[in-house]
Amino acid sequence: MSPGAGRALGPLLLLLVLLQCAARRRVVKRSVPDVCATCHVHATCHQIEGKSVCICNYGFVGNGRTHCQDKDECQIGANKICGNHTLCHNTHGSFYCVCLDGFRASNNNKTFIPNDGTNCTDIDECEESGLCGHNAKCVNTEGSYKCYCNDGYKLENGERSFHPDGNTVSCRGVDCGVPPSVLNAHPASVSGTTYGSEVTYNCVHGYFMASGTQTAVCNAEGQWDGTDLVCKEIDCGKPLLIPRTEMTWDNSTTLRSRVYYQCKEGYYFNGGKNFSECTIDQSWENITFVCKGEELFSNLSIFNETCVKWERKTGRLGVQKTYTFHILGQRWDEKTFSEDVIFNITTNEDNPKVCLDLDSGSNYVVNITTISSANIPVSVAVAIQTKVKEPFNNVLIFNDTCLKWKRNVRGTDVGDRYSFHVQGQRWYQKEFFHEMIFDITTHKQAPEVCFDLQPGTNYSVNISMAALNFSLLVSMTTQITDPPFPDVEFVAVTGSAPLLRLRKAEDQNGPISFYQVIVLPLDLQSTFICDSFAAATFFSNATDVKGYVAAEFQAKDVADNMPISLGDRHYYGKFYNAPLKLGEEYCVFLRVISEWNKSPFWVQIPSC
Ligand SMILES: *[C@@H]1O[C@H](CO)[C@@H](O)[C@H](O)[C@H]1NC(C)=O
Ligand SMILES: *[C@@H]1O[C@H](CO)[C@@H](O)[C@H](O)[C@H]1NC(C)=O
Ligand SMILES: *[C@@H]1O[C@H](CO)[C@@H](O)[C@H](O)[C@H]1NC(C)=O
Ligand SMILES: *[C@@H]1O[C@H](CO)[C@@H](O)[C@H](O)[C@H]1NC(C)=O
Ligand SMILES: *[C@@H]1O[C@H](CO)[C@@H](O)[C@H](O)[C@H]1NC(C)=O
Ligand SMILES: *[C@@H]1O[C@H](CO)[C@@H](O)[C@H](O)[C@H]1NC(C)=O
Ligand SMILES: *[C@@H]1O[C@H](CO)[C@@H](O)[C@H](O)[C@H]1NC(C)=O
Ligand SMILES: *[C@@H]1O[C@H](CO)[C@@H](O)[C@H](O)[C@H]1NC(C)=O
Ligand SMILES: *[C@@H]1O[C@H](CO)[C@@H](O)[C@H](O)[C@H]1NC(C)=O
Ligand SMILES: *[C@@H]1O[C@H](CO)[C@@H](O)[C@H](O)[C@H]1NC(C)=O
Ligand SMILES: *[C@@H]1O[C@H](CO)[C@@H](O)[C@H](O)[C@H]1NC(C)=O
Ligand SMILES: *[C@@H]1O[C@H](CO)[C@@H](O)[C@H](O)[C@H]1NC(C)=O
Repeated sequence: MSPGAGRALGPLLLLLVLLQCAARRRVVKRSVPDVCATCHVHATCHQIEGKSVCICNYGFVGNGRTHCQDKDECQIGANKICGNHTLCHNTHGSFYCVCLDGFRASNNNKTFIPNDGTNCTDIDECEESGLCGHNAKCVNTEGSYKCYCNDGYKLENGERSFHPDGNTVSCRGVDCGVPPSVLNAHPASVSGTTYGSEVTYNCVHGYFMASGTQTAVCNAEGQWDGTDLVCKEIDCGKPLLIPRTEMTWDNSTTLRSRVYYQCKEGYYFNGGKNFSECTIDQSWENITFVCKGEELFSNLSIFNETCVKWERKTGRLGVQKTYTFHILGQRWDEKTFSEDVIFNITTNEDNPKVCLDLDSGSNYVVNITTISSANIPVSVAVAIQTKVKEPFNNVLIFNDTCLKWKRNVRGTDVGDRYSFHVQGQRWYQKEFFHEMIFDITTHKQAPEVCFDLQPGTNYSVNISMAALNFSLLVSMTTQITDPPFPDVEFVAVTGSAPLLRLRKAEDQNGPISFYQVIVLPLDLQSTFICDSFAAATFFSNATDVKGYVAAEFQAKDVADNMPISLGDRHYYGKFYNAPLKLGEEYCVFLRVISEWNKSPFWVQIPSC
């Protein structure tokens, strides 16, 4: 019994002793024995308030007289008298404490009594080195310790924690073994099979990584971590739709599947690959397969007002093609189409140019149609507006005094009214002036008009179309025509110097410049050419002909009926009037020369 506990129990024990005394007092009142002599062997007699009392010794409990039995201190306080981590040993009249294994008494004694504050503290077994062997670490626990294999090490039985207990156990490095197979994948690289080793997987050809990690790692438990790669077969889905094409496809969408493209009818392939492959990216390869419509009239344009050109961009170039032109023409001042022409043009040119015979001042719709190689008619229409540049043109002079021209504006229901202003002048005859003003109206496409013109005159003819505010000036020159025969007197002359009479000619074609008398042997008459004797004198041998000019007179010197004697051996002008040979026959001409335009005319003298 501890001293503290004994003090607390004192009054109770005393009370029990007193009750026993009272009871006994009633029984043994008659004799008073020596109390102290009756004390139990394990009791001690104490004097309390003058009375002797037997009290059990320390470590014993009882009435002090009949019994004092050993007190088991280890049972007090629920075995905690020694404190934690202890074993309590009761002895006869006392007890002692012993620390449990793994604990040490704080007074370093084997046994102790806790009343001096001694307690049991944990022994750190791990302070002792090598306790757990290699590749393991020691972990102290209360009253004990544990060994743990290092990361990546394990016991043979697969456990990681152990207590050596004197057995020779050792931690060995783990081995994850052959990497596990992953569906549709193959290990591309394996760095080993020990702790921390890595294996990288790749999907097999035609498959792609759908989820999971590519790399697995050998973990401390000796297992491959991260073998969750999922490889799925490549599926490109539906192929790309390319406009104006048709696909040839076997419905396969796996890697390297192909879809072929073909242009739809009426369209032409214009560069690029004609198939697309399913790629590793799970998409169909991009191709530039372009189908173009047959550009039969590409870049159609009008040039030079009435010409059209275009380009055949596609289709079979260089092949003959027929174009049907449908031309509807409407004159500027008409409401309906008055011209409707259809014709075909066939060409193998890739850049055809067609110039149309269109008239000015009209609106045209030109519809060009051709047949595509797909046998479909393809049309284009262009509007051509021709300007009113020349309502008529191509003015031609014919028969000296007549004009004809071409009318350029369309339409026959409206007649064209032309106004003429004709003015004639002669430079050699200043006082001469001939003027005419008149109108004509005609529907004709190529009108003609003849004027009553004077010969040898320069005319200016102004033709105007008032409605179109258009006029044209035409110059006409009339020829000098043969004058009418002069009123001549036929005379037969003979002799060596016959006398002739010159008569003045009428100067109808302008003033007469000279008169010449030409002498020609009779046999040459038929070959006489008026001009060839222009300057032939009697002495000249310029021509083979023996004819010559015998005399020349200025017109102003010639009087009507002027006599002249042939062969009088005089000079008239620069010409010698040589004597005629007797017995020869001559023809004598009178030539009248106008200075103007050196186009002389002549008059036969009646001597032939
Ligand atoms: C004994 O241990 C208990 C819990 O295990 C603790 O509460 C108590 O304080 C300890 N006593 C001593 C004396 O160390
Ligand atoms: C135990 O320790 C006490 C002092 O705390 C000492 O007196 C005693 O001799 C020691 N030895 C044993 C065996 O009890
Ligand atoms: C145990 O004893 C030691 C040394 O006397 C003391 O330092 C420590 O506090 C005690 N522990 C407890 C839990 O009483
Ligand atoms: C592709 O699939 C379609 C419908 O699924 C089927 O009609 C067609 O015959 C298939 N083509 C081929 C080449 O298998
Ligand atoms: C694809 O083009 C090649 C040559 O470029 C040709 O031989 C083949 O027939 C074409 N295939 C299809 C389906 O048009
Ligand atoms: C095809 O082109 C599209 C758009 O330009 C692009 O998004 C796609 O990645 C390309 N596909 C391939 C296989 O090149
Ligand atoms: C169209 O024609 C013009 C002139 O001939 C040319 O300059 C132009 O490049 C052409 N355009 C095309 C798209 O061919
Ligand atoms: C346009 O017309 C003019 C004259 O009529 C001609 O000289 C020219 O060559 C023409 N141009 C073309 C491109 O035909
Ligand atoms: C033009 O050619 C087409 C066929 O290409 C033919 O049917 C048509 O009668 C031709 N027209 C003329 C005006 O020649
Ligand atoms: C051109 O002519 C074709 C054939 O006659 C016709 O079908 C088409 O409508 C015409 N186009 C125009 C713009 O007039
Ligand atoms: C010229 O006029 C004559 C008579 O007047 C005629 O017979 C002839 O056909 C005309 N010539 C022309 C080209 O019109
Ligand atoms: C005449 O002709 C001859 C030879 O033909 C020539 O020598 C002579 O000079 C000519 N006489 C004159 C006057 O021209």
